[in-house]
Amino acid sequence: MAHTTKIRKCLFPAAGYGTRFLPATKAMPKEMLPIVSKPLIQYGVEEALEAGMNQIGFIVGRGKRAIADHFDNNYELEHQIKGTSKEKYLDDIRKVMDKCEFVFMRQREMLGLGHAILTGEPMIGNEPFAVVLADDLCAAPSDGDHMRALGQLAALYDRYQCSIIAIEEVPPEETGSYGIISGEEIAPGIYQVHDMVEKPKPEDAPTNMAIIGRYVLTPEIFNYLRNTKPGANGEVQITDALKALAQDRQVLAVKFKGRRFDCGSVDGFIEATNYYYENVYKKEAKA
Ligand code: G1P
Repeated sequence: MAHTTKIRKCLFPAAGYGTRFLPATKAMPKEMLPIVSKPLIQYGVEEALEAGMNQIGFIVGRGKRAIADHFDNNYELEHQIKGTSKEKYLDDIRKVMDKCEFVFMRQREMLGLGHAILTGEPMIGNEPFAVVLADDLCAAPSDGDHMRALGQLAALYDRYQCSIIAIEEVPPEETGSYGIISGEEIAPGIYQVHDMVEKPKPEDAPTNMAIIGRYVLTPEIFNYLRNTKPGANGEVQITDALKALAQDRQVLAVKFKGRRFDCGSVDGFIEATNYYYENVYKKEAKA
């Protein structure tokens, strides 16, 4: 049966430790680090909502309760600031809470991104779904005509009805930080994936086209994940499962429009902070 369903569900793997941000992430999930005044994970959920997805699944580990609290009521705080000028600071999170349903699943062992996604299977069932890695922060394209990356993938899914991943060209010396794809360009910026490799050394990388943390996946990926052996870093990699899928079915990779910040690194985090302060926060403060 062809998958003609609209995508309603989005998974957020959020079980990692965030060691690069220690000690900040010792008692606080890395997904709660703020870019200006909004936690990374909220940007991701807002992007999913913009793309038409309102069923949000978090794959969490121990020590991640703050994420659940963030998307829940806080009666004491709300009572305190009700009717004051501060109440507007809760507008965005209230919108998200009103429109979304949240499910939390625990990944008991850190066996990799592929394993985290497989942990989400009971929530997804047999329909296409999205995955967002909140560390990759995707800003709205400056032309104002396009949605953020996930909305662009969802629009392409409507057309192609297959698994689609977001890619970006990275400096060749950085291939070791990413999944790298190669393929044939079938339309401007859209590639039919032929090969994929997780975190290759620059000399082994087929191209410099790197996977960014936005995926639209068809549910058959779960069977591929079940059959995927641990790969790079001894972890079950979504890249390996997608590579196997690409051998049997069409998998597309798209150069999305708009800027992406690697907020899993201190440099990217600071860049994102400066960008959002200048381009979003200051403008909203004036409005
Ligand atoms: C993960 C994926 C990798 C992808 C990257 C994007 O790696 O395994 O293929 O390129 O996200 O951010 P991680 O950054 O979790 O090590």
